[in-house]
Amino acid sequence: MSQAIAIISGLLIALLAVDSCAGYSAHGRQPSGLSDAALARRLVHQANWAAVGSISTHEKIMDFPMVNIMAVDDSALNGSSTGHIRFFLLNLDFTGRDTQQKNKVTFFFTDDQNGACQRRGVDPMEPACPRVMVSGSVKKLDTADPSYNDQLQAFYNRHKSAEKWAAHSHNFDFSELEIENIFIVAYQGGPRVIPAEDYYNATI
Ligand SMILES: *[C@@H]1O[C@H](CO)[C@@H](O)[C@H](O)[C@H]1NC(C)=O
Repeated sequence: MSQAIAIISGLLIALLAVDSCAGYSAHGRQPSGLSDAALARRLVHQANWAAVGSISTHEKIMDFPMVNIMAVDDSALNGSSTGHIRFFLLNLDFTGRDTQQKNKVTFFFTDDQNGACQRRGVDPMEPACPRVMVSGSVKKLDTADPSYNDQLQAFYNRHKSAEKWAAHSHNFDFSELEIENIFIVAYQGGPRVIPAEDYYNATI
């Protein structure tokens, strides 16, 4: 009797292990033909904001991970995706101060930022709710660059308030993330790396 129970529970465990990764329910699969790089580009392009982690330089939480919110946009002037994550870095804010000393940040994007996973009945922590962690350093954009004004205008198109921030304060730097690594967690297969080159070359 107990042997039968052991066999049945063993089978169940084996089935669960095949069907789902680490006990998560397996809702759906990555659409065929959609590469990790293209999926990452979609997550970035649809997002109006990202959660951003930095290494804290604040005396209260020195060297702890710190998180903040950043309005982001990766659009070209015509609204198409470029993959270049741009943002206004407030140099008085947590992230701005931290990066002045330790220029290492990770931007987090999830498909649930617009409620897509919840609508599919998928918990945001499950791999069936795709997410990317994009790490790198912040780089202030060069106002003399010929594409600067187009990039700025594209950002204003999505973030109307940013024009007021720039007009009323000199403490904002229009900046871009220089990507060093991208991790994606999506559907089956565990976390994967996307080379920055593949990410920028993907068409979405
Ligand atoms: C939008 O602009 C980008 C960059 O300038 C360009 O590569 C792309 O072809 C344009 N897309 C459309 C639909 O006009």
